[in-house]
Amino acid sequence: MRKNIVAGNWKMNKNLTESQALITEIRGIVRDENTNKAEIIICPTYLALASASKLLDGSTVKLGAQNCHFEDNGAFTGELSASMLKSVGVSHVIVGHSERRQYFNETNEMLAKKASAAINQGLTVLFCVGETQSERESGDHFNVIKNQISEGLFHLTPKDMELIVIAYEPVWAIGTGLTASSDQAEEVHAYIRSLISEKFGETIADHTSILYGGSVKPDNAVELFSRTNIDGGLIGGAALKARDFFDIIKAIK
Ligand code: 13P
Repeated sequence: MRKNIVAGNWKMNKNLTESQALITEIRGIVRDENTNKAEIIICPTYLALASASKLLDGSTVKLGAQNCHFEDNGAFTGELSASMLKSVGVSHVIVGHSERRQYFNETNEMLAKKASAAINQGLTVLFCVGETQSERESGDHFNVIKNQISEGLFHLTPKDMELIVIAYEPVWAIGTGLTASSDQAEEVHAYIRSLISEKFGETIADHTSILYGGSVKPDNAVELFSRTNIDGGLIGGAALKARDFFDIIKAIK
Protein backbone atom coordinates (compact mmCIF):
# COMPACT_ATOMS: atom_id res chain seq x y z
CA MET A 1 0.00 0.00 0.00
CA ARG A 2 0.95 3.61 -0.34
CA LYS A 3 3.05 5.40 2.26
CA ASN A 4 1.92 8.07 4.69
CA ILE A 5 4.28 11.00 4.47
CA VAL A 6 4.68 14.26 6.37
CA ALA A 7 7.13 16.69 4.78
CA GLY A 8 8.24 20.08 6.06
CA ASN A 9 8.92 22.79 3.47
CA TRP A 10 10.99 25.41 5.25
CA LYS A 11 10.89 27.82 2.28
CA MET A 12 13.33 30.76 2.64
CA ASN A 13 13.55 30.54 6.43
CA LYS A 14 16.36 29.85 8.92
CA ASN A 15 20.04 30.65 8.51
CA LEU A 16 22.61 27.86 8.86
CA THR A 17 22.85 27.95 12.67
CA GLU A 18 19.08 28.14 13.08
CA SER A 19 18.61 25.29 10.61
CA GLN A 20 21.08 23.09 12.46
CA ALA A 21 19.32 23.78 15.75
CA LEU A 22 15.88 22.90 14.33
CA ILE A 23 17.17 19.74 12.64
CA THR A 24 18.78 18.60 15.88
CA GLU A 25 15.54 19.25 17.75
CA ILE A 26 13.40 17.38 15.19
CA ARG A 27 15.85 14.51 15.09
CA GLY A 28 15.71 14.21 18.89
CA ILE A 29 11.90 14.23 19.09
CA VAL A 30 11.60 11.69 16.29
CA ARG A 31 14.15 9.42 17.96
CA ASP A 32 12.44 9.63 21.36
CA GLU A 33 8.78 9.59 20.32
CA ASN A 34 8.56 8.26 16.78
CA THR A 35 5.29 6.63 15.90
CA ASN A 36 6.63 4.96 12.72
CA LYS A 37 3.31 5.66 11.02
CA ALA A 38 4.69 8.16 8.54
CA GLU A 39 7.80 8.81 6.53
CA ILE A 40 9.19 12.15 7.70
CA ILE A 41 10.98 14.52 5.33
CA ILE A 42 12.44 17.94 5.99
CA CYS A 43 13.28 20.39 3.22
CA PRO A 44 15.56 23.16 4.51
CA THR A 45 17.18 25.77 2.25
CA TYR A 46 20.00 24.74 -0.11
CA LEU A 47 22.39 26.43 2.31
CA ALA A 48 21.72 23.90 5.05
CA LEU A 49 21.50 20.67 3.02
CA ALA A 50 25.06 19.41 3.33
CA SER A 51 25.22 19.89 7.06
CA ALA A 52 21.62 18.63 7.48
CA SER A 53 22.65 15.41 5.79
CA LYS A 54 25.40 14.87 8.37
CA LEU A 55 23.09 15.77 11.27
CA LEU A 56 20.49 13.28 10.02
CA ASP A 57 22.97 10.43 9.63
CA GLY A 58 21.44 7.43 11.44
CA SER A 59 18.02 9.12 11.75
CA THR A 60 14.82 7.96 10.00
CA VAL A 61 14.18 11.58 8.96
CA LYS A 62 14.76 12.02 5.22
CA LEU A 63 16.22 15.09 3.54
CA GLY A 64 14.59 17.00 0.69
CA ALA A 65 15.46 20.06 -1.38
CA GLN A 66 12.95 22.72 -2.42
CA ASN A 67 13.85 22.89 -6.10
CA CYS A 68 16.37 21.72 -8.68
CA HIS A 69 17.39 22.59 -12.23
CA PHE A 70 16.58 20.22 -15.07
CA GLU A 71 20.09 20.15 -16.54
CA ASP A 72 22.92 18.22 -14.93
CA ASN A 73 25.44 21.08 -15.02
CA GLY A 74 26.39 24.06 -17.15
CA ALA A 75 26.01 27.81 -17.42
CA PHE A 76 22.99 28.30 -15.18
CA THR A 77 24.13 30.85 -12.63
CA GLY A 78 22.61 30.37 -9.22
CA GLU A 79 21.12 26.94 -9.93
CA LEU A 80 21.71 23.44 -8.55
CA SER A 81 21.17 20.12 -10.30
CA ALA A 82 19.54 16.95 -9.07
CA SER A 83 22.88 15.12 -9.18
CA MET A 84 24.45 17.82 -6.97
CA LEU A 85 21.61 17.44 -4.49
CA LYS A 86 22.07 13.70 -4.49
CA SER A 87 25.79 14.08 -3.85
CA VAL A 88 25.13 15.67 -0.46
CA GLY A 89 22.62 13.05 0.67
CA VAL A 90 19.31 14.50 -0.52
CA SER A 91 16.67 11.85 -1.30
CA HIS A 92 13.63 14.01 -2.12
CA VAL A 93 12.98 17.22 -4.03
CA ILE A 94 9.96 19.50 -4.23
CA VAL A 95 9.06 20.33 -7.83
CA GLY A 96 6.39 22.78 -8.95
CA HIS A 97 5.62 24.56 -5.71
CA SER A 98 3.11 27.33 -6.43
CA GLU A 99 5.60 29.94 -5.21
CA ARG A 100 8.04 28.78 -7.89
CA ARG A 101 5.29 28.74 -10.50
CA GLN A 102 4.13 32.21 -9.46
CA TYR A 103 7.34 34.13 -8.63
CA PHE A 104 9.86 32.31 -10.84
CA ASN A 105 7.61 31.67 -13.82
CA GLU A 106 8.04 27.91 -13.78
CA THR A 107 5.84 26.35 -16.42
CA ASN A 108 4.40 22.85 -16.64
CA GLU A 109 6.91 22.15 -19.42
CA MET A 110 9.88 23.09 -17.22
CA LEU A 111 8.45 21.14 -14.32
CA ALA A 112 8.09 18.03 -16.47
CA LYS A 113 11.82 18.28 -17.24
CA LYS A 114 12.68 18.85 -13.59
CA ALA A 115 10.66 15.80 -12.54
CA SER A 116 12.55 13.66 -15.08
CA ALA A 117 15.94 15.06 -14.04
CA ALA A 118 15.24 14.25 -10.40
CA ILE A 119 13.95 10.75 -11.18
CA ASN A 120 17.01 10.05 -13.32
CA GLN A 121 19.09 10.63 -10.19
CA GLY A 122 16.83 8.35 -8.14
CA LEU A 123 15.35 11.24 -6.16
CA THR A 124 11.72 11.09 -5.07
CA VAL A 125 9.76 14.05 -6.40
CA LEU A 126 7.19 15.88 -4.29
CA PHE A 127 5.23 17.27 -7.22
CA CYS A 128 2.97 20.18 -6.26
CA VAL A 129 -0.29 21.18 -7.91
CA GLY A 130 -3.06 23.53 -6.88
CA GLU A 131 -5.45 26.21 -8.04
CA THR A 132 -5.60 29.90 -7.18
CA GLN A 133 -8.54 31.47 -5.42
CA SER A 134 -9.98 32.93 -8.63
CA GLU A 135 -9.63 29.59 -10.42
CA ARG A 136 -11.61 27.93 -7.62
CA GLU A 137 -14.22 30.68 -7.57
CA SER A 138 -14.77 30.32 -11.30
CA GLY A 139 -15.14 26.55 -10.88
CA ASP A 140 -12.04 25.93 -12.98
CA HIS A 141 -10.01 24.09 -10.36
CA PHE A 142 -10.43 20.57 -11.74
CA ASN A 143 -9.24 21.72 -15.16
CA VAL A 144 -6.23 23.50 -13.69
CA ILE A 145 -5.24 20.41 -11.70
CA LYS A 146 -5.74 18.17 -14.72
CA ASN A 147 -3.41 20.33 -16.83
CA GLN A 148 -0.76 20.51 -14.12
CA ILE A 149 -0.81 16.73 -13.64
CA SER A 150 -0.99 15.75 -17.30
CA GLU A 151 1.59 18.26 -18.57
CA GLY A 152 3.90 17.73 -15.59
CA LEU A 153 3.75 13.95 -15.15
CA PHE A 154 2.19 12.10 -18.06
CA HIS A 155 5.48 11.84 -19.99
CA LEU A 156 6.79 9.55 -17.22
CA THR A 157 6.90 5.76 -17.35
CA PRO A 158 4.98 3.56 -14.91
CA LYS A 159 8.35 2.74 -13.27
CA ASP A 160 9.11 6.47 -12.87
CA MET A 161 5.84 6.87 -11.01
CA GLU A 162 7.34 4.91 -8.08
CA LEU A 163 9.36 8.06 -7.40
CA ILE A 164 6.42 10.46 -7.57
CA VAL A 165 4.53 11.83 -4.59
CA ILE A 166 1.86 14.42 -5.39
CA ALA A 167 1.08 17.36 -3.12
CA TYR A 168 -2.22 19.18 -3.57
CA GLU A 169 -1.69 22.71 -2.31
CA PRO A 170 -4.53 25.12 -3.09
CA VAL A 171 -2.78 28.47 -3.48
CA TRP A 172 -5.50 30.26 -1.50
CA ALA A 173 -4.76 28.04 1.51
CA ILE A 174 -0.98 28.55 1.60
CA GLY A 175 0.18 30.70 4.49
CA THR A 176 -3.27 32.24 4.83
CA GLY A 177 -4.68 30.23 7.73
CA LEU A 178 -7.52 29.30 5.35
CA THR A 179 -7.33 25.51 5.18
CA ALA A 180 -9.33 23.65 2.58
CA SER A 181 -12.07 21.72 4.36
CA SER A 182 -11.40 18.01 4.49
CA ASP A 183 -14.30 17.54 2.03
CA GLN A 184 -12.76 20.00 -0.45
CA ALA A 185 -9.34 18.38 -0.14
CA GLU A 186 -10.66 14.82 -0.33
CA GLU A 187 -12.63 15.69 -3.47
CA VAL A 188 -9.53 16.97 -5.28
CA HIS A 189 -7.31 14.13 -3.99
CA ALA A 190 -9.81 11.56 -5.28
CA TYR A 191 -9.85 13.39 -8.61
CA ILE A 192 -6.03 13.37 -8.82
CA ARG A 193 -6.02 9.65 -8.08
CA SER A 194 -8.56 9.08 -10.84
CA LEU A 195 -6.34 10.97 -13.31
CA ILE A 196 -3.34 8.81 -12.35
CA SER A 197 -5.50 5.72 -12.64
CA GLU A 198 -6.73 6.62 -16.14
CA LYS A 199 -3.19 7.18 -17.36
CA PHE A 200 -1.13 4.61 -15.44
CA GLY A 201 -3.72 2.13 -14.13
CA GLU A 202 -5.34 1.45 -10.81
CA THR A 203 -2.40 -0.24 -9.09
CA ILE A 204 -0.05 2.70 -9.65
CA ALA A 205 -2.78 5.16 -8.65
CA ASP A 206 -3.36 3.20 -5.49
CA HIS A 207 0.36 3.24 -4.64
CA THR A 208 0.85 6.97 -5.24
CA SER A 209 0.89 9.04 -2.06
CA ILE A 210 -1.08 12.28 -2.33
CA LEU A 211 -0.31 14.89 0.34
CA TYR A 212 -2.33 17.96 1.27
CA GLY A 213 -0.62 21.31 1.89
CA GLY A 214 -1.99 24.68 2.91
CA SER A 215 -2.23 25.91 6.52
CA VAL A 216 -1.96 22.42 8.04
CA LYS A 217 -1.67 22.77 11.81
CA PRO A 218 -1.75 20.27 14.68
CA ASP A 219 -5.44 21.05 15.26
CA ASN A 220 -6.67 20.40 11.70
CA ALA A 221 -4.29 17.61 10.72
CA VAL A 222 -6.24 14.76 12.35
CA GLU A 223 -9.38 15.53 10.34
CA LEU A 224 -7.51 16.00 7.05
CA PHE A 225 -5.35 12.89 7.43
CA SER A 226 -8.38 10.76 8.33
CA ARG A 227 -9.68 11.01 4.75
CA THR A 228 -9.26 8.06 2.40
CA ASN A 229 -7.25 9.82 -0.29
CA ILE A 230 -5.16 12.12 1.92
CA ASP A 231 -1.89 10.34 2.68
CA GLY A 232 -0.19 13.03 4.73
CA GLY A 233 0.86 16.63 4.40
CA LEU A 234 3.33 19.13 3.01
CA ILE A 235 3.73 21.60 5.84
CA GLY A 236 5.02 25.18 5.62
CA GLY A 237 4.82 27.48 8.64
CA ALA A 238 4.08 24.78 11.20
CA ALA A 239 7.17 22.81 10.10
CA LEU A 240 9.37 25.56 11.51
CA LYS A 241 8.50 24.58 15.09
CA ALA A 242 9.69 21.10 16.03
CA ARG A 243 6.81 20.41 18.43
CA ASP A 244 4.08 21.55 16.00
CA PHE A 245 5.68 19.57 13.19
CA PHE A 246 5.80 16.45 15.32
CA ASP A 247 2.21 16.94 16.53
CA ILE A 248 1.19 17.00 12.86
CA ILE A 249 3.17 13.80 12.24
CA LYS A 250 1.32 12.21 15.16
CA ALA A 251 -1.99 13.00 13.45
CA ILE A 252 -1.26 10.16 11.02
CA LYS A 253 -3.12 7.16 12.43
P1 13P B 1 1.71 26.72 4.97
O1 13P B 1 1.63 25.41 5.75
O2 13P B 1 2.55 27.75 5.65
O3 13P B 1 0.37 27.20 4.56
O4 13P B 1 2.51 26.37 3.61
C1 13P B 1 2.14 25.28 2.86
C2 13P B 1 3.15 25.06 1.81
O5 13P B 1 3.28 25.87 0.89
C3 13P B 1 4.01 23.89 1.90
O6 13P B 1 4.73 23.68 0.73
